[in-house]
Amino acid sequence: MKENVLPENGELERTMLEKLAQDEVRSKIQGFAFAYRELMAYYRCAMMEVSTKFNVLSEELSLQYDRNPIETIKTRLKSPESTLEKLQRKRLPISMESIEENINDIAGVRVICSFPSDIYMLAEAFLRQDDIVLLERKDYIKEPKENGYRSLHLVVKTPIFLHNTKRMMKVEVQFRTISMDWWASLEHKIRYKKDVLISEEIDKELFLCAEISAGLDRRMEEIQQKVEACAALEAAAEEMKEIEKR
Ligand code: GTP
Ligand code: MG
Repeated sequence: MKENVLPENGELERTMLEKLAQDEVRSKIQGFAFAYRELMAYYRCAMMEVSTKFNVLSEELSLQYDRNPIETIKTRLKSPESTLEKLQRKRLPISMESIEENINDIAGVRVICSFPSDIYMLAEAFLRQDDIVLLERKDYIKEPKENGYRSLHLVVKTPIFLHNTKRMMKVEVQFRTISMDWWASLEHKIRYKKDVLISEEIDKELFLCAEISAGLDRRMEEIQQKVEACAALEAAAEEMKEIEKR
């Protein structure tokens, strides 16, 4: 018959202590997970607030200009893996406070516009709103990155209204034209998805493509301006005819 052997006093104490430590770690992890989920929910609300603002601008500007300056609005919440990687890479503390304080792009909104001038018009209209606080502005259109990357980046704080309080949350907004966006998406795929070193020649090729895409943006904008000028002239001529008839 097998005997039940009770642990000796010292061993029992150790087992108890280990169990208590495990419970403490488990409850800490659970607490952390809850706080993280809550914080991410706030960031999702902030993304909704910001994308609603652009949807409202889009409605209004479509009526005013007879064309929609916004092609698409995309939102994305940074994944836990990439948040942790960024904190570790920047040697920052791993805590909710540290995420809120140091990571600006947990909530990301990308506004894809038709023409470069639409980007500035939309960014200014957005920043004029009195609940938006600008924290950082990086204009990679006026000064593209060395590799050719173009985009206008804003980091803002926007309020979210919870049932009993208001909370200010950071959101990174990237403004791009369609061609800035396809270049950046393809460049990202090419550069990061392969386990190969990108040669200088490939860098140059990518840069050339960025230049061509910037040139196309300029040409398309010129064409658009010509068409708008023609439309304005035609409208004025129609008006003159109407006045002469009277
Ligand atoms: P963070 O600490 O990550 O904000 O670094 P940073 O401030 O130096 O980055 P920045 O604000 O200039 O750019 C951040 C985001 O812009 C990235 O997450 C990308 O979405 C985009 N981005 C910046 N540079 C490039 C680039 O060269 N290629 C592509 N495809 N995207 C870029
Ligand atoms: Mg940044």
